[in-house]
Amino acid sequence: MLSIEADKNIIALNTLGFNAIAEQFTRIASEDDLLKALQYAQLHQLDYQVLSGGSNVLVDEHIPGLTLHMQVMGRAVLKECDQQVLIRIGAGENWHELVQWSVVNDWQGIETMALIPGLVGASPVQNIGAYGTELKDVLVQVRAWDCLAKEFVELDNSECQFAYRDSVFKRSKGRFIITSVDLKLHKRLAIEFKYQALKDYMHKQSLANITLKDVFQAVCEIRSDKLPDPVKVANAGSFFKNPIISHSQFQQLQGDFPKIVGHPSACSGVKVAAGWLIDHCGWKGYLASGVGVYPKQALVLIHTGESSIGQLMQLADDIKQSVFDKFKVQLEIEPQRFPSVN
Ligand code: EPU
Repeated sequence: MLSIEADKNIIALNTLGFNAIAEQFTRIASEDDLLKALQYAQLHQLDYQVLSGGSNVLVDEHIPGLTLHMQVMGRAVLKECDQQVLIRIGAGENWHELVQWSVVNDWQGIETMALIPGLVGASPVQNIGAYGTELKDVLVQVRAWDCLAKEFVELDNSECQFAYRDSVFKRSKGRFIITSVDLKLHKRLAIEFKYQALKDYMHKQSLANITLKDVFQAVCEIRSDKLPDPVKVANAGSFFKNPIISHSQFQQLQGDFPKIVGHPSACSGVKVAAGWLIDHCGWKGYLASGVGVYPKQALVLIHTGESSIGQLMQLADDIKQSVFDKFKVQLEIEPQRFPSVN
C-alpha cells in the first residue's frame, strides 16, 4: 500500500537545510512502489519529482504534486573472479557507506570518492567525482524507469553519455528514474594517484605498503579539513562547476594573474579552479543574512539558518557577477533546482 504524506516539510532531506513543503510525499522502497506511485500520480493528474539524498539540490519553498523519495535498498555481488567483482547497488543506499563496504572487501575503484554526500541513485546523474576518479570509470550499467517509453531500461556506460558533472540523466531531465546501479571494481590493480594533492599527502605519510584503507582514510582527512560536514554546516558541496575556458583565454589570464589554477580538461580547453576565482574576488568567509561562503573553501556556499533559497541564489548571482567582472569567466551553478525548471 502506498503511504502518502501531505504537506511534508523536507528541511531534513536537503543538506542546505531550507524549509520546503512538499504537497504530497511518498517513500519508494521498491520498483513496485515506484510503479504504484506513478499510477497514483497519473490517476490524480499530479506532477511528480524524484528526491534522492538531497545533497545536490536547491529546493523551492513550495513543491507541488507528488515527491518520490527514493529508498530502494540492497547491495549484491552479481559476478566475481580473481581480478574483478561486479556489484549491484540499490538507488537508496548511502554512497559513503558503499565506499566503506568496498574498502572493507578490498575492492578498488571508488575509494577516492569517500565522504561524497548523497545516495547511490543520484551518483550517475552528475557523474560524481573526486581526486582523479569519476563514477564513469567504474560504472557498468544503470537500471531506471523510462518515463517516456514507460518501461524499465538498462543503460550501459556509453548510453549514460557521461561528461564532467554531467550525464544523459541530467540532460533529459525527468525522463529516467534510477532504481539501481552496477559497478565493476578491481581486486588486483596497483594503486596510482591521479590527483597531485592526494599524491603529496600520501607521500608525506611515508607508508611502506599503501592499502585501499590508507587511501580512503587520506581522502576522508583531506575532505574533512576543507569541506564542511553537511550535518554541522548546511551546504551542497561545490556550488559551482569548475569552468572550462579556451587555452588562449587561460594564457591571457595567466598574464594578469600568474597564480591562477587551471588544468588541461579532458574535452579541450582548460578547467579553471572556480574556488580560486571566487577566493580572489574576496568572498571566502563572507556571511550575511544566514548565507555565506565557507571560510576554508570558496567553492562551497553555506546556510547558517533562518535564511531562504532566494537569498542564497542572490548571493550566487553576486558571486557570478564579481567573477565575471574580474576575470571575464562565466560560472555555472552545480546543484539542481528542485523541482527542476526548464
Ligand atoms: N582554491 C583556492 N581557494 C579556495 C578553494 C580552492 O585558491 O577557496 C584553489 C586550491 O588551492 C587548488 C584549486 O583551487 O589549487 C582547486 O581546489 P581543490 O583541490 O579544493 O578542488 P576543486 O577543484 O575546488 C573539485 C571538485 C570537488 C572534489 C575536488 C577533489 C568540482 C566543482 N569540485 O574541487 O567536488 O572533491 O575537486 O577532487 O569539480 C563536489 O562536487 O561537491 C566536490 C566537492
